[in-house]
Amino acid sequence: MVPIRSIGPRHSERITAHLLSLSPHDRYLRFGYAANDEQIGRYVTGLKFERDEIFGIYNRKLKLIAMAHLAYSTDPQLNSCAEFGVSVLGTARGRGYGSRLFDRAVMHARNDGVDMMFIHALSENTVMLNMAHKAGATIERDGSESEAYLLLPPADLDSRITEMFDEQIAQTDYRLKVQAKQFWRFLSAVQDVRRGVREHKPPRALD
Ligand SMILES: CC(C)(COP(=O)(O)OP(=O)(O)OC[C@H]1O[C@@H](n2cnc3c(N)ncnc32)[C@H](O)[C@@H]1OP(=O)(O)O)[C@@H](O)C(=O)NCCC(=O)NCCS
Repeated sequence: MVPIRSIGPRHSERITAHLLSLSPHDRYLRFGYAANDEQIGRYVTGLKFERDEIFGIYNRKLKLIAMAHLAYSTDPQLNSCAEFGVSVLGTARGRGYGSRLFDRAVMHARNDGVDMMFIHALSENTVMLNMAHKAGATIERDGSESEAYLLLPPADLDSRITEMFDEQIAQTDYRLKVQAKQFWRFLSAVQDVRRGVREHKPPRALD
């Protein structure tokens, strides 16, 4: 199981770092245009954490290696629609993270009363379009761009409990990674002190 957690504004810097480390071609695929650093910065600043849902997968160094954005419609008449966008770092591709984020977004959207999820992708983005197609989405090609939409079944007890359970596991996993990272930092400071004692150097202060 891949721990996928819902992430809030406190993680904005990590979201920015994740998106900035995408290659120019991946930025083009993700945003539908060759987003520069400034545009990525504006995208992150404009994220509506209170309305939308952002999901992330962290590695053990707490680097955000994959993330998805489920954006809800701002039009009150279309509040049962949401749009899905995703990115996975090049080094973490092909491990199923994109698909897991897709499944998680579907489950969350269902539980939130959404009945149609949209994916806007460039027509050349066969990986994304295949993922959507495999999930049952209808794909409409319009030249270089494509729209995929997926009709979602209503929420049920299983989807609600599964999401709660997955989120709990992911939050626990994240807390453990934070602790492990802090402990490694502490250990390396202790080792510095030991080395200093051995070499008669003044110790570096512990955090
Ligand atoms: C699209 C993207 C999110 C896929 O992430 P991923 O973690 O590599 O995807 P997965 O490992 O879950 O693979 C999903 C499917 O695509 C297939 N796939 C993955 N990479 C592939 C590749 N380079 N070529 C062909 N098929 C590929 C997998 O085999 C899998 O198919 P399966 O379910 O039939 O086994 C990732 O490539 C990415 O971040 N691209 C740049 C941004 C982007 O295009 N975002 C989508 C627009 S919103």
